[in-house]
Amino acid sequence: MAERDVRIYEVGPRDGLQNEKAPISTEAKLRFIGLLADAGLREIEATSFVSPQAISQLADADTLMANLERRPGVRYPVLVPNERGLARAEAAGADAVCVFTAASEAFTRANINMTIAESIDAFRPVTDAAHQRGWWSRGYVSTAFGCPYQGEVGEAAVVGVAQQLLELGVDELSIGDTIGVAGPADVRRVVRALLGAGIAPEQLAMHFHDTRGTALANVSTALELGIRCFDASTGGTGGCPYAPGAAGNLASEDLIYLLEREGLSHGVDLDALLVAARDVSESLGRPLATKVGRAGGWRVP
Ligand code: COA
Ligand code: ZN
Repeated sequence: MAERDVRIYEVGPRDGLQNEKAPISTEAKLRFIGLLADAGLREIEATSFVSPQAISQLADADTLMANLERRPGVRYPVLVPNERGLARAEAAGADAVCVFTAASEAFTRANINMTIAESIDAFRPVTDAAHQRGWWSRGYVSTAFGCPYQGEVGEAAVVGVAQQLLELGVDELSIGDTIGVAGPADVRRVVRALLGAGIAPEQLAMHFHDTRGTALANVSTALELGIRCFDASTGGTGGCPYAPGAAGNLASEDLIYLLEREGLSHGVDLDALLVAARDVSESLGRPLATKVGRAGGWRVP
């Protein structure tokens, strides 16, 4: 893989689709994932091995992974909440797994029906298996900036959960603004607390939702603090059924435009990515609502 200044971790096929009510065919999901790889994305979160009652849209995870055309050099992580999910992921040939908890107890209960402490215990067999098999692993800390049930979330709670996930041995943490409430000052507060606790910037990814239009400002702030991995969703889709009020993820195309203007390399071809963005919007039957999706890149006359 060519050296890139910034890693873009694409969550469109998973976070982007998980809250969509109308069924999307496995074939359409696979085509979308293929177009994302065509555009140069090298980390594409493909699906979730969770309870089909919890997330019905991703109930085809087994078939999807079994039929995925794996491009060389592309990582296709999947969400795994427990041993049941681990068995399914392994049978489907996954080799990169994400465990996911949150910085607030109320959201963790709603999302995975566990306390934060129980979630860490549930993840241990998953992360142990990942190490034994040489898989890449990631830990999500959701609601790091605000909880739809509890409100404000303090940075100490984020640091505490982050440290517990790192003790499980995950390769990376993704710090999530699940409902899109953070502004730059919050990003400074939380990221500085994580770095101050001895966590390296290379161990951190930021996961912003653009619910209130602050996602790009938050990315700029995180870049200034040394963060170099961002989660984003092509087409700006996204949300979680257990996070009422959450709107789409930061759109990958909007992120890429910003990175280009900052002179940072990311390895993605914007025009090719817009092909993928239009494809997912057609699958969803909605017009593309992202800024760069509508305007396109800047073609200097
Ligand atoms: N894959 C498939 N089925 C699973 C499963 C998995 N990983 N884990 C549990 N199940 C099934 C159980 O077999 C059981 O099925 P049954 O009712 O037919 O017997 C049912 O799901 C409930 O299982 P249980 O162990 O009692 O778990 P729970 O009801 O406490 O739910 C989770 C816990 C973690 C499985 C569930 O809350 C979940 O999948 N959450 C994911 C939410 C999510 O993905 N959110 C978005 C990402 S942030
Ligand atoms: Zn998200």
